[in-house]
This record gives sequence, structure tokens and C-alpha cells, in this order.
Amino acid sequence: MSASTSKFAGNHILSVNQFNRDAIEYIFHIANQMQPYAQRQKRTEVLRGAILGNLFFEPSTRTRVSFGTAFNLLGGEVRETVGMSNSALAKGESLYDTARVLSGYSDIIAMRHPQAGSVAEFAAGSRVPVLNGGDGANEHPTQALLDLYTIEKECHAHGSSIDGLNIAMIGDLKYGRTVHSLCKLLSLYKNVHFTLISPTELAMPESILTAITNGGHQLTVTDQLSGSLDADICYQTRIQEERFTSQSEADKFRGKFRLDQQIYTKHFQSKTVIMHPLPRDSRAEANELDNDLNQHPNLAIFRQTDNGVLVRMALFALSLGVENLLQQHEKPVLWHTPKSTL
Ligand code: CP
Repeated sequence: MSASTSKFAGNHILSVNQFNRDAIEYIFHIANQMQPYAQRQKRTEVLRGAILGNLFFEPSTRTRVSFGTAFNLLGGEVRETVGMSNSALAKGESLYDTARVLSGYSDIIAMRHPQAGSVAEFAAGSRVPVLNGGDGANEHPTQALLDLYTIEKECHAHGSSIDGLNIAMIGDLKYGRTVHSLCKLLSLYKNVHFTLISPTELAMPESILTAITNGGHQLTVTDQLSGSLDADICYQTRIQEERFTSQSEADKFRGKFRLDQQIYTKHFQSKTVIMHPLPRDSRAEANELDNDLNQHPNLAIFRQTDNGVLVRMALFALSLGVENLLQQHEKPVLWHTPKSTL
């Protein structure tokens, strides 16, 4: 996909493989323009009358609600289907038939499903653009875009850039789809140093390692968090228990890589930004990202979630070809919502 030819409109967003650097920069340029609307300084009704089909066949808080919020903020309406049991998929209907039907009721569809490749299969039957909100352990392209957008902003705040970035990824790198998509996007940049820390059984898939090395980047793979890491970003992940064959299998790895203030101080530098796609597993046996880091200025997890709305607004505007019409459809904001600085 090339920004110069503006081939976003009408296209599905299924994988980060479809983006090059120009396209990413264009998405981020449009995401920046969404700030005043997301912060309720202004309102736009550019998508008034449009309908988002928001189909989540696997649990989600952030992705589902931020897709819906992003669409509402552009003036559109949202129709939700949550859970396989609330859909005719539970009666044996195919993804193709479901897509053929629901695309007749919607202008655009966002979808999450537990099977790798399922969103692409669904998209083949859809007459409207489909955005992948996560397909099994495969990909989570919109999360990767919001993560990259956050990394760019954090780097900018620290006087650095994504080119030359040093990133440590920790935890379940086998099943964690967000790190798969993020590694592919980062591989489009220059001289990135990836340090991948996971139990051997949960190591990053070979195909992703190949994408990193083919891009000429520096790669360190280890099963230990040890020594002092010169990382700009520490990207912590959750053990993806829903992908394991049994709870006891997942339990073997739970709590293996915790991050709290003491561990952070021991292994990272004062510049290191802490990221996590969320949800973080805060149960005592896991505690993968401790609450004692909640007030740390380098904790970017809630900046990530806020940025998710901007990036998803940009993707909707681009997919529906209205990215240059936002201002023409502005309306005044008639209410005031005081927000605390928590
Ligand atoms: N990051 C993410 O995908 O969160 P949800 O599972 O809550 O959507």
C-alpha cells in the first residue's frame, strides 16, 4: 500500500505486511489530526449515517471499545456482536456467509476471532472493508500501528527516532500476536536492535526472526533477563493462556518474567520507556507489570491506549476515504468533561 497513490479507501486491513513506511507515515499524519476530536475540543460528523459492524468473537476491552469510540467520534454508529455464542457461527454458519450477510448491514467491519487466518477468510466474503482486530496468535495490525505511533512519540520526547531504536520484548513471544505485528513494522525502519527475552518454549516464531534479520537489524535472543540493557523501550507481554492446551501448561510460565520498580532499576536505564499491549495479568502469581510502576513517568501503557483511539480513527477515515473532509463537517462541542490528572 502506498500513501502517494492513496490506496487506503475501500481496502481491508488484515496484516501489517500491506504497509510500507510511506503508508505508515501517512496513517500517523492523519492520526495526529484526530487529536482535537478525540480530546473533545472539536467534533466532526464526517461519518454521520455510516455503520460499523464491530464483531468480537474473542474477549476484548481496548480493541473493541476503542474501535467503537473511534467510529462514534467521527460521527458514525456502531452495531456490536460479542461472543461466538451470540452469532449464527455457533449454528455452523461459515465465515463467508456471515461476512456476506453482515457486510450488507455495515459500511465497514472490525473483527476479532480466535483462529489465525479467520479474519482474512471472513474478508473474502465481505463487500465492505474489514479491519483485523486480532486473529488468533497470528496478527494484531491495528495494535502494532498504535504501538509504533506511541514509540515514535516517546522517541520524539526523548530526542531520538525509530531508526536506531533499541527495544527489548519480554514474555510470551510465541503466542503474543502484538509482538509479531510490531516486529514486522519495526523491521521497515533502519538499524533496530531487538532483544527478545522469553522462555525457550515461548520464543518468537522463525518467520518473524527472518523478517528481522532480512531487514539487516541486530537481534539478540535469550531466555534470561540479565545484566544492564541499553533499551529505549521495554515491551512487556502477557502469557497468552487462551492459546495453551491447558491451564497447567500456561501456569508453568506465569510469573517467570515480572517487571516491578526494583527489576526495572536493575536491568534498565532511566530513559527506558515501559510498554505493554494490555491487558496486564495483575494476579499475584503473574504480576507481570507491577502497580508500583503506575506513577512512573516512563510507563506508557495508558498513552498507548489513548493513542489507539487516534490510530483507529485514522484507519476508519482512510478506509472510508474521508480523511480530508474532517473540518468541513465540524460541529461545536456543547459540553465540558473535567478530567483528573490521574
Ligand atoms: N491490546 C488488546 O488487544 O487488548 P484487548 O484484548 O482488551 O482488546
